[in-house]
Amino acid sequence: MKKLIALFLAGVMTMCMLTACGSKEPDEAVETVQGSENAQGETGEAEEDGDVLADGVLTVGTNAEFPPFEYVDDNGEPDGFDIALIKAIGEKLGVTVEVENMEFDSLVSSIGSKIDIAIAGMTVTDERKGSVDFSDPYYEAVQFVIVPAGSEIATAADLVGKTIGVQLGTTGDFIASDDIADTTVNQYNKGVDAVNDLLNGRVDCVIIDKNPALVFASKFEGQLVALDGAQFEFGVEEYAIALPKGDTALAEKINAALEEIKADGTFDKLVETYI
Ligand code: ARG
Repeated sequence: MKKLIALFLAGVMTMCMLTACGSKEPDEAVETVQGSENAQGETGEAEEDGDVLADGVLTVGTNAEFPPFEYVDDNGEPDGFDIALIKAIGEKLGVTVEVENMEFDSLVSSIGSKIDIAIAGMTVTDERKGSVDFSDPYYEAVQFVIVPAGSEIATAADLVGKTIGVQLGTTGDFIASDDIADTTVNQYNKGVDAVNDLLNGRVDCVIIDKNPALVFASKFEGQLVALDGAQFEFGVEEYAIALPKGDTALAEKINAALEEIKADGTFDKLVETYI
């Protein structure tokens, strides 16, 4: 198909030269040709097949508010373990990875429209499985509780009736809202905003995943402490890449790439670098 396009373009360009087109016109002609090819050709067919890799670009949604898995670096670009991992997967699959930074709560519903897949320290849950498929899990996690230094919160019973800060739509949010009695749950778009309200005394604690909890608590050492979720009987969670529902071909490719990355030592290197 690419050869055909090239031939066609060459033809268009020759015609232009013969008819002395203005310098702008060949570009316009190119756009039209590519546009119609996209509408009816490779890409169109590919999309019907659900082959999101066919255009050579994998658009990956994340929420870069979750260090060390994803954050915005000093140059304003998303970086972190998940970003490096998905780029390594993209390399194995021979596609360019484009990262879309968006709200965590919009990721699942954006798969298949704004984004192809999502990587965001996302826990596999039955509810999410209703709308998306997941890759093989790549990381084990648990919710932690961040409290002010000197807080008396130490067990599950101590969380009852508390005002709890969470990132909206996360498993920490579900635990605080559904599993603990009489809580007031303050939901924030960014975990760091929940942490700021903890510092301001507006919430009693923040429930967030272990590694971000450790990052936030160490940023405010002396003021905040991150408590292990095991103390609160929180269950183990698994992070996986969220994929379009039913696209088993894509899932197989991503799982194969993930396996290779684990086998060749890349995965461990990324853990060492970022976590
Ligand atoms: N593991 C939690 C969940 O899946 C939190 C993930 C938050 N991730 C993020 N990039 N903000 O709900």
